[in-house]
Amino acid sequence: MLEKIPRIKLSNLPTPLDELKELSKKYGFKKLLIKRDDLTGFAGGGNKARKLEYDFAEIIKSDHDVVLTAGGIQSNHARMTAAAARKLGIDVKVVLGGPDFKKFKGNLLLDVLFSAEIRYLVNDDSNDHLTSEMNKWADELKREGRKPFVLPIGGSTGLGALGYVKAMHEISQQLADKKVQIVMAVGSCGTFAGSILGAKMFFNDARIIGISVSRTSQAIIERTKEIILESSEIMKQKINMNEIKIECYDQYYVEYGLITKEGKNAILECANLEGIILDPIYTGKVMAGMIDLAQKNIIDKKLTTIFLHTGGLPILFSFEDEFDELAKCNKIYKKVQ
Ligand SMILES: Cc1ncc(COP(=O)(O)O)c(C=O)c1O
Repeated sequence: MLEKIPRIKLSNLPTPLDELKELSKKYGFKKLLIKRDDLTGFAGGGNKARKLEYDFAEIIKSDHDVVLTAGGIQSNHARMTAAAARKLGIDVKVVLGGPDFKKFKGNLLLDVLFSAEIRYLVNDDSNDHLTSEMNKWADELKREGRKPFVLPIGGSTGLGALGYVKAMHEISQQLADKKVQIVMAVGSCGTFAGSILGAKMFFNDARIIGISVSRTSQAIIERTKEIILESSEIMKQKINMNEIKIECYDQYYVEYGLITKEGKNAILECANLEGIILDPIYTGKVMAGMIDLAQKNIIDKKLTTIFLHTGGLPILFSFEDEFDELAKCNKIYKKVQ
């Protein structure tokens, strides 16, 4: 049924499934793999490309001329929505929120590059406020005779989550082993919901493990169930919610958007052992969480484990102060006059 749902190609699929040999050796995993969704290839890459392939098929079909979305100051979703809108000839406006800033950096700089019109909520990235500002803007646009499409925060609709149902099918084709654990970041829950549903459909034995970057486990469970139901209705796939197990951990973030000490260490370790770049808001925290859960034997190191790399590279370039200090104190840089 998934093949029948309209989709616009934005990403280069399949993304590679590689081994993390050095990390695996260091932490005693039997087999640790990385699914490189940071290499989806569109506008800087990341998980959002897969969701937007379904969301934009709907936006185009329903004849809208402007798309609005919202997120935090360093939203990867806003950056990729802006890029997709430009590629498909649709106008784009984004509501962002967070600390006041002096310079456009990271994803925010890319939003400007894609000429997204931005409304910024200073010192406020509450989902409710971002959403109500976006709805207000959409109403203004309607009064001007425009046809706005409001894409919720993170693109986490039942439709967008199909991108990760498809991703689970893709992994099942890349791997003979069906008894796997797949670890990923959970923000607005679409990636997680699609992965849980896809794992149920294509990999009966997979265990999907979510690491929260912003919400309590209880809030994640509620929202993830809603998205799973929406996605399964779109696919006309019968699903018994009692058989769906939602496993997530919410102790690896302090506040959305802030780097943690453990996340920073994981970024450095991954760079130095594997040459892989993680980011401070999402994937660094997930790597730190995955290692901690493995050390506590909550993740079974004897089973194949897959770290889902969901992208977020541009975010790193808005955290330069964290790493600038490191360069100085490690004395790895010398000015030659
Ligand atoms: C790099 C990255 N990883 C993971 C996520 C989480 O995905 P979701 O919002 O679908 O839970 C996001 C969402 O913004 C993201 O940008």
